[in-house]
Amino acid sequence: MGYYEENKRPESMERITTKEQAEAFIEEQVSAIREQVGDGKVLLALSGGVDSSVCAALLIRAIGDQLVCVHVNHGLLRKGEPEQVIQVFRNELGANLIYVDAVDRFLDKLEGVDDPEEKRHIIGAEFIDVFAEEAAKLDGIEYLGQGTIYPDILESKDGIKAHHNVGGMPEEFDFELVEPVKLLYKDEVRVVGTALGLPESMVQRQPFPGPGLGVRCPGAITRDRLEAVRESDAILREEFAKAGLAGKVWQYFTVVPDFKSTGITDGKRTFDWPCIIRAINTTDVVEVSVEHLDPALMDRLAERITGEVAGINRVLYDFTPKPPATVEYE
Ligand code: XMP
Repeated sequence: MGYYEENKRPESMERITTKEQAEAFIEEQVSAIREQVGDGKVLLALSGGVDSSVCAALLIRAIGDQLVCVHVNHGLLRKGEPEQVIQVFRNELGANLIYVDAVDRFLDKLEGVDDPEEKRHIIGAEFIDVFAEEAAKLDGIEYLGQGTIYPDILESKDGIKAHHNVGGMPEEFDFELVEPVKLLYKDEVRVVGTALGLPESMVQRQPFPGPGLGVRCPGAITRDRLEAVRESDAILREEFAKAGLAGKVWQYFTVVPDFKSTGITDGKRTFDWPCIIRAINTTDVVEVSVEHLDPALMDRLAERITGEVAGINRVLYDFTPKPPATVEYE
């Protein structure tokens, strides 16, 4: 029997939309996790994304410090993300959290690599190496927590991606999986996350690719251009939040391509990168439409990004739907 057949959502399962339904689900899963794991230890790669965060919060509720979370900072995270993961999970939820600063390790490996597929491969492989090294330092781990959600299972059925790709874990990991949210759709995961007390900024977070900002710094990644991506992304998120667009627009981000153009600041010539803004809406990610921005917001973004981000002298808006363009640039 395939993974899909083993993990079919029962037709009788109600869609979770209310706090009461979420609390009933949490109670049910807490018992199920305790029954599965007993006094065993569970390891979880906590990226800070919605699915792994909700999975971690459920596991903490069920088994407390029998859960070991590993948060790997690969240097391609958004501004403030590692800090938020540490604040929420270690300081507020009291999780047993190992924070791995692997920034130099990843960026050194990526130096000079400009092929998109090779970049993705390096990021994925390095992540597994770092995670496996951390796992090897720990004793008595028998279980691997994963924030697999139902669309991942449906995609594994259609051959779009293998289920173990969800957390990207290597096959040789001989751990039994604990996947408490695997029958939930994304909107339900969010309702459960809120009921578990996770902050809205974490629960309502927009989709973020595994290779992170690496795919938004096209070509060979340099630290200064990556920083320009991170800083401009932070400004974009701040301005979208102020304009009431956070949580309404499906996905929005900045890209800093590897070419420069002439500009002028305080009467002096500059020669700097452009920053491209992309903001899109979709229901299925197969077809994507462009969010049309208010001109006043565009003006503010151009002013702030050129004024506050080192190395940027021009702001462009990508108004291409998918198809023909993909969402990400690499
Ligand atoms: P594309 O660029 O394929 O993106 O139109 C569609 C959606 O998928 C996200 N994306 C990824 N997510 N790992 C992920 O977890 C990846 O390697 C990856 N690449 C793209 C993208 O952000 C968009 O939401």
